[in-house]
Amino acid sequence: MKLFQHDYFPYITGDRVSLRQIKDADLNDLIEISFYDAIQAKTVQQAAEMQAKINQDYLDGNSIHWGIVDNVTDKIVGTCGYYRGLDKGEGELGCVLLSQYYGKGYMTNGMLLAIDFGLNQMGLKRIWAATSQQNGPAIKLLERLNFVKTADLDDDEIEYELKQTNTL
Ligand SMILES: CC(C)(COP(=O)(O)OP(=O)(O)OC[C@H]1O[C@@H](n2cnc3c(N)ncnc32)[C@H](O)[C@@H]1OP(=O)(O)O)[C@@H](O)C(=O)NCCC(=O)NCCS
Repeated sequence: MKLFQHDYFPYITGDRVSLRQIKDADLNDLIEISFYDAIQAKTVQQAAEMQAKINQDYLDGNSIHWGIVDNVTDKIVGTCGYYRGLDKGEGELGCVLLSQYYGKGYMTNGMLLAIDFGLNQMGLKRIWAATSQQNGPAIKLLERLNFVKTADLDDDEIEYELKQTNTL
């Protein structure tokens, strides 16, 4: 596999959504969910600067950040990816949806593709996620995807890990 090379970014096709690299033309629609180091972009320019860092992080082998695309409309509905742990053969899975697409199953579909790719193409030994105790939708999503709670962290954060007994 050519992961982390200049001329390759993993594109994953599913029945309802696909995962692809974010392009400049997407950024205007994505400001609401454009974050880097927990700081939110306020302008397209800032989102572009963040995306440049995200692209470099991919080339450095540190993270993979996908746009989740509705296969019918070709619009990006949210993002997901692996943001930490790749140097140890693990992946912290993170995700965010544009609010207008909440409650339609898009993230469940996108995360299933990312998990399948992480396990079967990237060979990750462990997939985990962290969220806050109060984040009911994220906890529901993770449990639906067969993650189990593994730790209470500081600052109300909780850690979940994928139980690898299912066939995805
Ligand atoms: C966490 C987050 C992605 C969850 O969004 P979500 O809309 O609940 O997740 P999904 O897109 O998978 O949608 C699932 C819901 O759609 C419903 N649904 C509707 N149509 C569906 C379909 N065709 N297929 C599957 N589910 C469908 C499901 O029943 C489910 O509803 P429920 O939670 O009331 O049971 C969203 O709240 C978010 O972006 N939060 C901010 C960022 C964040 O907290 N990230 C988590 C970091 S770990």
